[in-house]
Amino acid sequence: MARSLPLPLPLLLPGLLLCCGGASELRRPPARIGVIGAGIGGTSAAYFLRQKFGKDVQIHVFERGAVGGRLATVRLEGKDYEAGGSIIHPLNLHMKHFVKELGLSEHQVQDGLMGIYSGEEFAYVESSWYIWNLLKLFWRYGLNPLRIYMWVEEVLEKFMRIYRYQSHDYAFSSPENLLHAVGGANFLHLLNQTIDESLQKARFSQKFINEMVTAVMRVNYGQSASVNGFVGAVSLAGVNAGLWSVEGGNKLVCTGLLDASKAQLISGRVISVEAKTRPNGRAGGPMKLYEITYNSTSGVTSDVYDILLITTPLQREIANITFRNFNPPIPKFSAPYHQTVATFVHGHINASFFGYQDPSQFNLAAIFTMEDPHLFINNVGIVSPINLSPPVWKVFSRQLLTKEQMKLLFSSYDSVEVQKWLAYPHYSPPEKCPPFILHDQMYYTSAIEWAASAMEMSAISAKNAALLAHHRWYSKMNMINQEDLHERLKTEL
Ligand SMILES: Cc1cc2nc3c(=O)[nH]c(=O)nc-3n(C[C@H](O)[C@H](O)[C@H](O)COP(=O)(O)OP(=O)(O)OC[C@H]3O[C@@H](n4cnc5c(N)ncnc54)[C@H](O)[C@@H]3O)c2cc1C
Ligand SMILES: *[C@@H]1O[C@H](CO)[C@@H](O)[C@H](O)[C@H]1NC(C)=O
Ligand SMILES: *[C@@H]1O[C@H](CO)[C@@H](O)[C@H](O)[C@H]1NC(C)=O
Ligand SMILES: *[C@@H]1O[C@H](CO)[C@@H](O)[C@H](O)[C@H]1NC(C)=O
Ligand SMILES: *[C@@H]1O[C@H](CO)[C@@H](O)[C@H](O)[C@H]1NC(C)=O
Repeated sequence: MARSLPLPLPLLLPGLLLCCGGASELRRPPARIGVIGAGIGGTSAAYFLRQKFGKDVQIHVFERGAVGGRLATVRLEGKDYEAGGSIIHPLNLHMKHFVKELGLSEHQVQDGLMGIYSGEEFAYVESSWYIWNLLKLFWRYGLNPLRIYMWVEEVLEKFMRIYRYQSHDYAFSSPENLLHAVGGANFLHLLNQTIDESLQKARFSQKFINEMVTAVMRVNYGQSASVNGFVGAVSLAGVNAGLWSVEGGNKLVCTGLLDASKAQLISGRVISVEAKTRPNGRAGGPMKLYEITYNSTSGVTSDVYDILLITTPLQREIANITFRNFNPPIPKFSAPYHQTVATFVHGHINASFFGYQDPSQFNLAAIFTMEDPHLFINNVGIVSPINLSPPVWKVFSRQLLTKEQMKLLFSSYDSVEVQKWLAYPHYSPPEKCPPFILHDQMYYTSAIEWAASAMEMSAISAKNAALLAHHRWYSKMNMINQEDLHERLKTEL
């Protein structure tokens, strides 16, 4: 029975407001959301945006290159190997959830014997006898290896609180606010000092830091123990047991999430973003919009969006996006990204390069290194299945390897594949992270990389940005930057 109400509109409105809990409910949903970048950050953002904003909003994801971004594989001898982000921690809950939801499978990372090379000799070499390894570790480093495990656990346990906060829809406006909410002032201190300083304060031995800790930083971030304490802890968690990657390639998570989100992929390079105002938007007032100009196969085109998520580092060498008509202007992002080169080599490693008199004695599957200006590699390790001979080695280095360096490192080789990355921030504490909010409805997920760059961090940041966008669109400011969540959520059923 349709019947128009005899009430005049001004009288009706206050009633509506009461019944539905505030003016926010009257706001129209956004029509279009733009996402720049289709790495794990952009594709998981599309997925979370769909969850929060519902089925009607149009979501466009812009990608200049391949879906996956820094998750990519290279093919050698008929098999694919991870060339960018490769290992996932067993407690990376978003990644775990994606893989399950998308029907993908986990592949356990198996590791052979490891040695830490100083540039002149091995500081530590694993043997196949577990008890002997423990004794050697204990002899060289005392209780440090055991204590570091507990130190990392403590950081990780606190950091895991973020999942609970996010499941209750809480969001944060900057990486610092997020870190403070999970770990208090201690976590901000981690950002302000090097992992070297953090561990010294926790009374770890300098020998242990210079050897083990440094080697791990070089493997995971191509840098020394001068990275900030938080990314240092993330890096140390990356030598845990139970590490995995996605069967068929980690980038499958990105294509899967893009599909699941029902977002439209637009293949093209975003050139500029311009702030626009339309005179009669919602509630009769002016409406802010973002105009994206991009270059695709059909030429240079522009489109407007209500909400915009930027999920690529904004460094000029990486994204090269110009911001127009913002007042105050969007700052320049010029802090450098660190270059890491991944080289895949099918061949025999030169054992005498690592000081082995008798190459038949060489049985290491992974060589980590310490700081030495003469060393031209960060680490090298076998990535192929154990039955392949010669194996496929993956080398990480700061610069492209020259022919001469290849000849030193390998006694013989045939196929080679090289991938050069601006891989992660060049960390240099005290770290000041960019904010997650760049403008009214414009968000920047990559800000989190200055705390730590990892797949899971991008996914956490993507969910945070989707929540931020939702709360700010509907004016639910009490869901942003809340403190004491740990205590408050404890008592909640
Ligand atoms: C060698 C290496 C090893 C790593 N190892 C690990 C690891 O073991 N474990 C781990 O968790 N993490 C690791 N990482 C880090 C991890 O890969 C990254 O933190 C993560 O993949 C970043 O994802 P993202 O979506 O935030 O950014 P990206 O993957 O960089 O995605 C951004 C996307 O935006 C696109 N884009 C940029 N500019 C434009 C433009 N103007 N227009 C359109 N599109 C644009 C890019 O093409 C890119 O696809 C590693 C990284 C590297 C490079
Ligand atoms: C970190 O350093 C910055 C300046 O470099 C300072 O403003 C801030 O208070 C410091 N924070 C902590 C928790 O030490
Ligand atoms: C757009 O892309 C084409 C082809 O890649 C290129 O030739 C052209 O210079 C690009 N234009 C702009 C404005 O970047
Ligand atoms: C950035 O893009 C502009 C055009 O938008 C181009 O002229 C310039 O060469 C680009 N710079 C880099 C470093 O790619
Ligand atoms: C192997 O390493 C040794 C020692 O660095 C070097 O002298 C030799 O030329 C390298 N190459 C080969 C093929 O043995």
